[in-house]
Amino acid sequence: MLSSDNKFLSRLFKLITIFGIVLYIIIYIFFNNDPCCTEPTSLSRYTELSPYHDTNISHLVIGIASSSKSWRRRKPYIESWWKPNVTRGFIFLDRAPDEHLPWPSSMPPYRISEDTARYNAFNMHKMRYVIRVARVVEETFNAENGDDVRWYVFADDDTVLFVDNVVEVLRKYDHSKYFYVGMPSECVGPNIKLSFNMAFGGAGYALSHPLAKAVAKNLDLCLKRYPTLYGSDEIIYSCIADLGVSLTPEKGFHQIDLYQDISGLLSAHPQSLALSLHHLEGLRSIFPSMNRTESVNHLMQAAKADGSRLLQQTICYQMHKNWTFSVSWGYSIHIYEAILPTSILQVPLETFSPISRIRWPYMFKTRRVLNNSCEAPHVFFLHSIVTHVGNLLETVYIRSSEHRLSTCSSSGNHTANHISEIRVLAPVRKDYEVR
Ligand SMILES: *[C@@H]1O[C@H](CO)[C@@H](O)[C@H](O)[C@H]1NC(C)=O
Ligand SMILES: *[C@@H]1O[C@H](CO)[C@@H](O)[C@H](O)[C@H]1NC(C)=O
Ligand SMILES: *[C@@H]1O[C@H](CO)[C@@H](O)[C@H](O)[C@H]1NC(C)=O
Ligand SMILES: *[C@@H]1O[C@H](CO)[C@@H](O)[C@H](O)[C@H]1NC(C)=O
Ligand SMILES: *[C@@H]1O[C@H](CO)[C@@H](O)[C@H](O)[C@H]1NC(C)=O
Ligand SMILES: *[C@@H]1O[C@H](CO)[C@@H](O)[C@H](O)[C@H]1NC(C)=O
Repeated sequence: MLSSDNKFLSRLFKLITIFGIVLYIIIYIFFNNDPCCTEPTSLSRYTELSPYHDTNISHLVIGIASSSKSWRRRKPYIESWWKPNVTRGFIFLDRAPDEHLPWPSSMPPYRISEDTARYNAFNMHKMRYVIRVARVVEETFNAENGDDVRWYVFADDDTVLFVDNVVEVLRKYDHSKYFYVGMPSECVGPNIKLSFNMAFGGAGYALSHPLAKAVAKNLDLCLKRYPTLYGSDEIIYSCIADLGVSLTPEKGFHQIDLYQDISGLLSAHPQSLALSLHHLEGLRSIFPSMNRTESVNHLMQAAKADGSRLLQQTICYQMHKNWTFSVSWGYSIHIYEAILPTSILQVPLETFSPISRIRWPYMFKTRRVLNNSCEAPHVFFLHSIVTHVGNLLETVYIRSSEHRLSTCSSSGNHTANHISEIRVLAPVRKDYEVR
């Protein structure tokens, strides 16, 4: 037993030296030796090698599906990421907003969706707005289709987009070819019902200019061909499939077909740039001490400081205490009083529940939230971002609630109960210097 444990530990050391110590943690007062950490590989700047690395935010046009009923309630989500006069695009409403109130300049300019009465004869959709929302693709394309548009991005009014990361990811792809970039649901149920190869609309998805043009041209045909499909994203998916184009998945788009608390998911994000979050208004606030609006704005501060690190997981080991740290940059830190391998820490803690209860509900593995001191982490959430110290960006995380468990005795009885704050220093990326 002992010898196999030793082998395990020496493997961890190797892993750490391969990645090099790039990011380190200061735990104030309690010890001076910095734990060894692995740097997430998603931070490598592979897109600099791409011939399309000059794609920038002004090459994107964003179409947001909304309604006169929902936009006001969801305005804080849109305002959290929309950059007036920088992001291009429109929010589509079914009716004009109240003309006595000026349209907020913090919001995307609005457009009123075209009348869909001409589809009445064959429209058999359960939800009346499906055709109107599907037509957002065509109406966005018609509104802006100059040579300077490389990508069309579509989202709902309750989608939070990390736009700079979306740009970064789209730089990998040739905008002059047909590309359909997005992500299916986290849950098996909706994917069985719709498709495992479909970009779910709320997660946000991108169409290259030529593909958006082809979809816009064929949309009427598709609407007639598929008069009963469930959602507008399914109609667009079917239309794109008919054009012979398949989904290019990007793991950073999050439909969030989940309930309750998604902190387990956000604390074990795949090594892929965070691109979107959806459905936040139906979930527990992602930062337990704040309401939903404050939470989104809080996370967005980290996104603004260094979007490329946002939610990227770094694992650190404090060997002389047998502690493991799992850092989800800009969001949370978990301390385990045991040495746990990366392969386990990459599995999200199931703090959430699925949208449909079937035997294997998720598209990924989850870990049960256990109440024993060797497996239950001490949980810390982002508190603040300190301005740069030299070329370092400092994020501060504080304990969210008291950990009432006794210490994990099988790994040496080293309690972490007294730690209240963790500071993470990370090198500032050159292109993310204060803007
Ligand atoms: C994006 O690139 C184009 C050239 O393709 C340039 O004209 C434009 O100013 C750039 N926009 C930004 C915001 O960098
Ligand atoms: C955006 O541009 C318009 C006109 O160009 C200007 O009136 C407005 O103040 C700008 N808004 C912001 C938030 O910069
Ligand atoms: C959230 O908190 C902020 C600031 O404390 C407050 O202005 C806002 O109304 C709150 N939002 C909700 C939905 O409670
Ligand atoms: C976990 O166990 C501790 C003590 O063993 C107990 O006080 C606490 O209520 C338990 N928490 C949950 C969520 O079951
Ligand atoms: C770490 O844990 C192992 C077994 O899990 C134990 O044998 C070892 O003594 C512990 N080390 C320290 C420094 O407590
Ligand atoms: C763990 O440490 C605490 C306090 O340091 C001590 O009271 C307890 O007896 C220890 N438990 C074990 C199993 O060694």
